[in-house]
Amino acid sequence: MLKKIEETKQFLKNKTSLQPKVGIVLGTGLGNLSTEINIEIAIPYEEIPNFPVSTVQGHSGKLVFGHLNDVPVVAMQGRFHYYEGYSLQECTFPIRVMKMLGISHLFLSNASGGVNANFEVGDIMLITDHINLLPDNPLRGKNIDELGPRFPDMSEPYCRKMIASVLNIAKTNNIKLQQGVYAVLSGPTFETPAEYKYMQIIGADTVGMSTVPEVIVARHMDLPCMAMSIITDLGVDGKIIEISHEEVQVIAKAAEPKMTLLIKELLKELYL
Ligand code: HPA
Repeated sequence: MLKKIEETKQFLKNKTSLQPKVGIVLGTGLGNLSTEINIEIAIPYEEIPNFPVSTVQGHSGKLVFGHLNDVPVVAMQGRFHYYEGYSLQECTFPIRVMKMLGISHLFLSNASGGVNANFEVGDIMLITDHINLLPDNPLRGKNIDELGPRFPDMSEPYCRKMIASVLNIAKTNNIKLQQGVYAVLSGPTFETPAEYKYMQIIGADTVGMSTVPEVIVARHMDLPCMAMSIITDLGVDGKIIEISHEEVQVIAKAAEPKMTLLIKELLKELYL
């Protein structure tokens, strides 16, 4: 694994001299955020050694290097999901590479189904904690001591400082921001009414199919994380309606400008 990470890092270093400070993972329907990036180079995943290739519609699959608000960033336009058939080690490989490229913060986004009765479709939720309900953990197997400890602490999965900053930015800009717990399931099926209810009972506010493996791997390497979720549908009693991936994409896209503003302002606070 270490050799593969080094190989991929060297390949990328030969492509660009840009030194990213922040890594960004753009989820379903949020790929357009990369149009805000002053792009130096965009490399299709299939050209990057050791990267898996994304298969989901709406994930165009490019690693973008450039500046966002004058801060050097590396952004994944499209991510890898467990339901696509990759192992969690494969899904999270790019996060390890981004860390080795020198990023000091990781920002992740996704679309999810709200199970909190106070949520509305189109809300943005700042993820403050998560519940891993995948049948695996990306750190299972021999620990790579060079990357992090065997038993990583998870008392602060999402960086409190970044959360506080974003809450402030949202307030200043009059953006409604929910906060809560994100539960991850393997998918690709959306949840049944009973499953949504179960999520709510165990303490989740929203449910999705990504992000948690990436955060686990990032925290293993002591990389501070922040994640935001766009609520694209509701798994709340009486409000459950049929949904499709296409609707999820449309709703996520509509909330994209607000999320872009939050990220850009956060970068300013962190680095400028
Ligand atoms: N469940 C799981 N993943 C999702 C959902 C959902 O309701 N909405 C968007 N992604």
